[in-house]
Amino acid sequence: MPLPPEFLAEVKYRNNLADVVTSYVNLKKQGANFSGLCPFHNEKTPSFTIFSSTDSYYCFGCGAGGDVITFIRQIENLDYIEAIKFLAAKAGLNMPEDDAKSSAESKLKQRIFEINREAARFFHTYLAKDSANWRGYLKNRGVSIETIKKFGIGAAPDSFEALFNHLKNKGFKADDIAESGLVKRNQRGFYDTFRARLIFPIIDLRGNVLGFGARIAPGVDGPKYINSSDSKVFKKRENLYALNFAKSTKDDYLILCEGYMDVIALHQAVINSAVAALGTSFTDSQAKLISRYSQNIVLALDADNAGARATKRAIDILRNTGLNVKVVAIPEGLDPDDYIKKYGAVKFKALVEGAANDTEYRLFIEKEKFDVETDDGKLRFMREAVKILAQVADPIERDVYAAKLSTETGINKNTILEQIKSISGKTYNSARRTTARNVQIRANNRDKINPERHLSLMAARAEENFIKILMDNPDLCDFAKQTLLTNEFVTSFNAKIYDAVLKILERGLVFDIAYLAEDFTPLETGRIVEILDILPKSANPKNEMQSLVKVIKAEKSRLKTQNINDLSDENWADEMKNLVKNKMGEDKNGRQN
Ligand code: GTP
Ligand code: MN
Repeated sequence: MPLPPEFLAEVKYRNNLADVVTSYVNLKKQGANFSGLCPFHNEKTPSFTIFSSTDSYYCFGCGAGGDVITFIRQIENLDYIEAIKFLAAKAGLNMPEDDAKSSAESKLKQRIFEINREAARFFHTYLAKDSANWRGYLKNRGVSIETIKKFGIGAAPDSFEALFNHLKNKGFKADDIAESGLVKRNQRGFYDTFRARLIFPIIDLRGNVLGFGARIAPGVDGPKYINSSDSKVFKKRENLYALNFAKSTKDDYLILCEGYMDVIALHQAVINSAVAALGTSFTDSQAKLISRYSQNIVLALDADNAGARATKRAIDILRNTGLNVKVVAIPEGLDPDDYIKKYGAVKFKALVEGAANDTEYRLFIEKEKFDVETDDGKLRFMREAVKILAQVADPIERDVYAAKLSTETGINKNTILEQIKSISGKTYNSARRTTARNVQIRANNRDKINPERHLSLMAARAEENFIKILMDNPDLCDFAKQTLLTNEFVTSFNAKIYDAVLKILERGLVFDIAYLAEDFTPLETGRIVEILDILPKSANPKNEMQSLVKVIKAEKSRLKTQNINDLSDENWADEMKNLVKNKMGEDKNGRQN
């Protein structure tokens, strides 16, 4: 439910951007605008600018930008709603009541949150007072009292009704308790889901208890961990354990672990950027969530086979989200928790800081498979390594790895490079070569915000100008809709902005970044500010729109006939893999014949 526009306008009116920014940044007046050192990246000369006419900011250095809401989101690490609450509170405004339609639903959610909170309290108290076993267990595992308190760790008694009765006594209704997933229903009634387990509450960015993870006692049969099932308030695939703490880390990366205990051990060791997925494999939504807090992710999954598979999967997902991925190879098959116990936090931190990027990691994994002390092992390792490097687009990066491999194996660097070339070269017919080259150029000059921009700069610019005119001329909304559809855009990022702007204008509002809600990150709103504040105003909007549409449509159809538009990098990687595979097959046949 979008917030009422009058309310947003009031929040913004009472929180003038320059005033708010002054408490974080030293601003200098420059004509109508202000400038200062950007708080979002390190710089010596000011490139952070406030445009007074639209009350928006933009950093010419890092590209961050937006309005006062975006600024607070970015600098206080809050989500959209939290940022608005923050600003509303600052101005002494109350948040508007949810409207009637959503209020039943939101009241139920509120009750589930209360039930979860009460349950967390119950488990925590039970651990503190009545469960010497679990206290001993945690002590053995090196978990301190402070850590138990910080994470709200608890224990569920060995009973089918202790929690259910407790919650009923607190006045909660059985049906609501069932909605939380804390109890289950059978023919005879309700029974507690978590019994005789160690309990890890899962807490969101606002401090709400979403659900629980629960570990079995040592030596007991059954699944080691069980988690709350999804509920009205808990979506396992969209949340991360301990992000409520990790979001405030000073490190410029987040660490992704597998288990609750790993995260807890890391935070206790003052490595406070650790998070974990919640008992499911890593998802796209979790990658997106991470990207809101950090551009860099370090994978520290278990060093067993399952962990290696999970790592491979996570690398692909995280890369697609545009994050920089590094991988910690934890020695001896240990998980982060075990490793810290054995070698200490300082050593683990060193592993993290020295973590390999994803290509290095893949090479490492291959190397582990062979005995590279023998010539045969060396050769077989090299054959795999060359395949991996043939997939690396950047020639400089390839060169670096070739040099490294050369030192490791004693094989001449140029021989390695030639081998890589022969795999990635010969297999192409000329059409494929062109495609690969194009994709390679794109991959190298990738615009992170609008990755399709390089398909056609001309079209992308036309799209941006078209959007700018629309922002300035809300009366042309209908005209725009008739002339250009979102699916006629060349770049989907610009199409997404167009769609958002149309939705705002259709509500009869004047365009304002405040209405874009959580659909855009600060870097994305930075791009929107560029369009809004830096592109020139059109003197002849309607005519210009028409000629821009011509450019966009012509480019779209040109790209279509070149068939390049639907060749995503992902397809390209697959294609490369197949080509390499075929090539290897061919070689073998060739030699056999
Ligand atoms: P311990 O150190 O032995 O307490 O566990 P761990 O933190 O090392 O966890 P492990 O590596 O065994 O598992 C990692 C994560 O996978 C856990 O935190 C759970 O979220 C999940 N998981 C583990 N075992 C199970 C299971 O039996 N069922 C489900 N659904 N999830 C599990
Ligand atoms: Mn463990």
